[in-house]
Amino acid sequence: MINTLEWTDSGVRFIDQTKLPTEETYVTCTTCEQVADAIRTMIVRGAPAIGVATAMGIALAVQKSKAETVGELKRDFDQCCELIRQTRPTAVNLFWAIRRMQERFESLRIRPLPQIKQALIDEAKRMHAEDIAANQAMGRLGATLLPSSGGVLTHCNAGALATCGYGTALGVIRAAIEQGKKIHVYADETRPFLQGSRLTAWELMKDGIPTTVISDNMAGTMMKQGKIGAIVVGADRIAANGDVANKVGTYTVAILAKEHKIPFYVAAPLSTIDLRTTDGSKIPIEQRNREEVTHIAGKQIAPQGVQVENPAFDVTPAEYVTAIVTERGIARPPYSESLAKLAVGAEKVSV
Ligand code: MRU
Repeated sequence: MINTLEWTDSGVRFIDQTKLPTEETYVTCTTCEQVADAIRTMIVRGAPAIGVATAMGIALAVQKSKAETVGELKRDFDQCCELIRQTRPTAVNLFWAIRRMQERFESLRIRPLPQIKQALIDEAKRMHAEDIAANQAMGRLGATLLPSSGGVLTHCNAGALATCGYGTALGVIRAAIEQGKKIHVYADETRPFLQGSRLTAWELMKDGIPTTVISDNMAGTMMKQGKIGAIVVGADRIAANGDVANKVGTYTVAILAKEHKIPFYVAAPLSTIDLRTTDGSKIPIEQRNREEVTHIAGKQIAPQGVQVENPAFDVTPAEYVTAIVTERGIARPPYSESLAKLAVGAEKVSV
């Protein structure tokens, strides 16, 4: 299994996703600041992985704290939360993880400092294990939606690398293959950061899953040629009405899917569902730096000084989404009802 991130005795160890697929190298972060940098620079990326990295960064901050009182420890804890909060705005799992660690801290206040520190480390490790279990549950449920054979398109990377293991959208595909379905994956390359061609293709090939990389602008013609029987993607934040924020380009794929009458599925854990955000227009969209668009692998491909836009995510309106697969069940329209029902009991830790 790919070890995207893990708590070790020497710190939080990440596979460096900026180096894949040509180099498989690992980075160990020993401070909250280093974890915040790893999230900002996308050494670790993908909503669920960002959430657990956040929790582990906070756990590192308390582990390394020189505080002598609970108040001082809380000050170090809060500083780390604030630092990580500034890294990436769209993936709600980051804010969900901060909230869950805050709630855990509050429940521990009367305990001695060493016990508080250990309990927060244990909480972060528990979130890691829960994420893998959620992905496996989503996989089992979502696999039933996929055709018994044929092409399945995915966008960006919603795989083991975007989570603590197995993946959300790619977990659904993995489970379908484990159930004996003959799936061939079409992976959009996902300009400009190329998570599809660099990461999705890498991890699927590692598992021996048949994969074809296409450039993003080929998706329509693949659908028209009948090569795509279903689409499955992940999400960075799902609003209460079922609008889905995911990697930019997802919206285009969803519209193409509707035109070609191909089901469009979203797989995401409950930690990605944000019932406090009523609809997609209220989801903050991260704007990334211009060089991601004007350069590829450090080589300039657009004229010096040209105007550039680089929103990292777009919002697919709920009406384009056939179903949303979570670890608790499959939500169908109307999502304002089905998501609220699934999230009962989970809102304790939603933001
Ligand atoms: O900018 P990224 O690479 O963090 O964006 C990732 C995505 O958009 C994924 O599709 C999403 O986080 C779901 S991951 C299971």
